[in-house]
Amino acid sequence: MPHISIQIIQQEHASLTAMLQSLLMMIRRGPLNEPGLFFDVLRSMLFYIDEVPEKQHHPKESQYFFPLVVQRSAACAEAIQGLEKEHHQGEAAIRALQHLLLAWEILGDSRRAAFVSAAQSYFDFYKAHMAVEEKQIIPEALRVLTEEDWTTLDAAFARNADPLSPTKPRDPIYDRLFSKITFRAPAPIGLGHS
Ligand SMILES: [Fe+2]
Ligand SMILES: [Fe+2]
Repeated sequence: MPHISIQIIQQEHASLTAMLQSLLMMIRRGPLNEPGLFFDVLRSMLFYIDEVPEKQHHPKESQYFFPLVVQRSAACAEAIQGLEKEHHQGEAAIRALQHLLLAWEILGDSRRAAFVSAAQSYFDFYKAHMAVEEKQIIPEALRVLTEEDWTTLDAAFARNADPLSPTKPRDPIYDRLFSKITFRAPAPIGLGHS
């Protein structure tokens, strides 16, 4: 039976990947003849990433998951140090992205390329980050953590799950945000046309 904490980490990675893929698809499609709506949805997506993966997912890993793994496995110490550094960089990176989007919206097309390139780098950055967690840290955790460790971890993660998770009831404060994203954004996150 897979541990709930690992399931939550993997689900949250899938939600973040889906959100970033939809965001990149929207950017490739461009504002077309609905710039107001286009920027509104992109802003909502960046807000979601700032609000959920940055403020909930990464802190959970840093606070509960990584310290236990390091304690049980010195082999992961260097990789975890790198991941921690990336968690610290992530919040600044999403804020910078939000600013670059505003620059494109307010100042026009001359600022488009800078946003597109930063969004692609952000996606690549997190894809690599999540790959280290999934291919290196999770397998090591499954090898070294004790039953007691898993009980602590599972309880901590269950308290704080991604509001996009298909297995959890959605927090009503996110309803408007998700309706906007899901109705307007392209798949995989939304219902809009790609
Ligand atoms: Fe992480
Ligand atoms: Fe993660």
